[in-house]
Amino acid sequence: MKQFTPSHAVNRLPEQFFAKLVSKLRTYEENGHDAINLGQGNPDQPTPDHIVSSLKKAAEKPIYHKYPPFQGFEFLKEAIATYYKRQYDVDLDPMKEVAILPGSKTGLVELSQAFLNAGDVALMPDPGYPDYWSGVAMMDAVMEPMPLVKEHDFLPDYSAISEETWNKAKLMFLNYPNNPTGAVANRSFFEETIDRANRHDVCVVHDFAYGAIGFDGEKPLSFLQVPGAKDVGVEIYTMSKTYNMAGWRIAFAVGNQSVIQALELLQDHYFCSLFGAEQEAAATALLESQQCVEDLRQTYETRRNLLVEGLKALEYDVQPCHGSFFVWLGVPEGYTSEGFADELLEQVGLFVAPGNGFGSHGEGYVRIGLNNSEETLKDALQRFKTFQK
Ligand SMILES: Cc1ncc(COP(=O)(O)O)c(C=O)c1O
Repeated sequence: MKQFTPSHAVNRLPEQFFAKLVSKLRTYEENGHDAINLGQGNPDQPTPDHIVSSLKKAAEKPIYHKYPPFQGFEFLKEAIATYYKRQYDVDLDPMKEVAILPGSKTGLVELSQAFLNAGDVALMPDPGYPDYWSGVAMMDAVMEPMPLVKEHDFLPDYSAISEETWNKAKLMFLNYPNNPTGAVANRSFFEETIDRANRHDVCVVHDFAYGAIGFDGEKPLSFLQVPGAKDVGVEIYTMSKTYNMAGWRIAFAVGNQSVIQALELLQDHYFCSLFGAEQEAAATALLESQQCVEDLRQTYETRRNLLVEGLKALEYDVQPCHGSFFVWLGVPEGYTSEGFADELLEQVGLFVAPGNGFGSHGEGYVRIGLNNSEETLKDALQRFKTFQK
């Protein structure tokens, strides 16, 4: 059989960190061991019933059996604009400032394809969600890490970025509530971001995947709530986490018109939007009661409290997570991130994500997901208790 050589763009793609992780867990389980998976960010609960019912009913409508409009149905774009108005008091023009995406993972790669040329700089949170790297690599652009460290509340320190780098930068990725650190952004940080982006013509991409999951009575801030945000960027919002719809693959981008236009042009060549019945169910999710979201948020907060208090009692260096569903745990002295993760799996069957997989500044941490029941988290804490540091 011939061996065909992939394009340079494909050859530049980094190894998929999560794929490698999962295969480690599989091998462990295949060897007859029982593990608790705290390593992934896959919502553990089903999509709320009223959203599933909406899909079922809509699936019977022949209109949705035809090709949908290239850029999605207007009713969904209108529902997204209504949602942003209700949740964040942000005004959006549904036809010019909203793009429907087949999952935010795809949208995040498309943004690099739409705005980066070879050699351009993309400012990248480190640690950060690894899928930001993929599009940058495909375009042969350059990643400039923005370290997220505890001393700076896991927000980038813009003053540490040289003037030369600022001038070369075309895109900046941000994500609050943050995966993997659990940090949230404040208004003054977003104001500074807008100021820098304006001065240096940088397009800001704010990944708001965990927008619905904020703790301690603080609702996470949308980037678009801050005046001037639309001038300099977009926010990416996924239905995956807010409504446990990760398998449905539906998200959207909102904000700067020129960015939305470029994304839609690119998507016109890739897709023909999403199954119309899914779009109708997504509109149901956004427009009907948000009680299911509040219930989910409370579930994660209860789990966070349980895990963080338990780990503190065992004298672990654990960061208070203010949002997202991740706990960022400092590894005990003498361990690397991967060494600690391997040892946790070997000794007590706990599977966590080593922090270095999210960038070099993730070294010294592991990420623990809150996507398990309280009962399973209690079992995990028992295992931590027996772990020989
Ligand atoms: C920060 C962040 N952005 C984006 C995504 C991808 O979400 P989607 O399901 O919309 O592709 C994830 C999923 O884990 C995430 O953690």
